[in-house]
Amino acid sequence: MTYQPGNNRYDTMRYNRSGRSGLKLPAISLGLWHNFGEVDLFENCRKMVRGAFDLGITHFDLANNYGPPPGSAEETFGRLLKKDLYPYRDELIISSKAGYLMWDGPYGDFGSRKYLVASLDQSLKRMGLEYVDIFYHHRPDPDTPLEETMGALDYIVRSGRALYAAVSNYPADLVKRAAEILRDLGTPCLINQPVYNMFNRWIEPELLDELERQGMGCIVFSPLAQGMLSDKYLKGIPGDSRAAKSHGFLKKSAITEARLSQISRLNDLAAQRGQTLAQMALAWVLRHPGMTSALIGASRISHIEDAVSALQNLAFSDEELGRIDAILGE
Ligand SMILES: NC(=O)c1ccc[n+]([C@@H]2O[C@H](COP(=O)([O-])OP(=O)(O)OC[C@H]3O[C@@H](n4cnc5c(N)ncnc54)[C@H](OP(=O)(O)O)[C@@H]3O)[C@@H](O)[C@H]2O)c1
Repeated sequence: MTYQPGNNRYDTMRYNRSGRSGLKLPAISLGLWHNFGEVDLFENCRKMVRGAFDLGITHFDLANNYGPPPGSAEETFGRLLKKDLYPYRDELIISSKAGYLMWDGPYGDFGSRKYLVASLDQSLKRMGLEYVDIFYHHRPDPDTPLEETMGALDYIVRSGRALYAAVSNYPADLVKRAAEILRDLGTPCLINQPVYNMFNRWIEPELLDELERQGMGCIVFSPLAQGMLSDKYLKGIPGDSRAAKSHGFLKKSAITEARLSQISRLNDLAAQRGQTLAQMALAWVLRHPGMTSALIGASRISHIEDAVSALQNLAFSDEELGRIDAILGE
């Protein structure tokens, strides 16, 4: 049957402007890094993407290497577009990236113009798209001149392959240089995509301020620390969880007794706020005024519903923030 998205899909989601650009992103975005590969059940992928769009999630984040195998998440998303979402293309913000190893030889990794342009052409083919909305350089390249990488992003936008240029995993000093180069070329840098969650606060000392100065947005990945910031690991490691999967990026060794003790106390605090721990963790990353979006992952539709409900309570008292800092400091 033809997919009909929910009529009230725009009623509850919040949309935040990305820096000083014209583009708004949903406060919760969905990433297809895990659980959307060839190894995953297509009907479950379909349920999650349709369910997300029904809840006002207009932004879907991909990369050349998402799978497994690499490339297959983009193929899955291409099938979903064809079956359900293509009529709504103008309501969607679709991103892809290149920067990690994608193919053999010297041109399938890092940040050369050769790699970025070829990789995006492959991504567009896999998704059956004429353009992506946002194209990221996925990680800094220590060897390629930044002028070449940013020049490639500028070319990609001018050639119509992407609407906006962006960077991911860039620290404050590189964000500044990248933004300056792109501004001089006439293609502003839209947004940075760093990791950020209660267990990894590296963006707080410098990066957030630099993004603000550059007029760039911030979309943070792994806001749930790959699922650790939920109640899922409190009673052991479930067999279908990311930590249990051989191709998952969350290692069992990360779930230590000390971590579990923090998670348990955070879980109690979330309950006092009337939230799940996952909801409190999302509200916590969204508390910064310059935060554009929390980019979640999911393995089932209930994760997406849980995340969107976090928006019902984004406020923290100073006392609550102090208690979180105290738990994280131990
Ligand atoms: N730019 C980069 O370098 C980079 C790197 C990593 C990720 N990303 C992007 O960020 C996206 C999100 O990353 P992530 O998947 O690590 O994010 P995350 O939201 O921290 O973790 C998602 C995982 O948490 C678990 N989960 C989610 N909601 C839950 C809930 N309500 N209750 C219990 N467990 C819940 C699920 O684990 P189970 O699968 O175990 O059920 C889910 O797969 C990726 O898809 C990708 O688009 C970008």
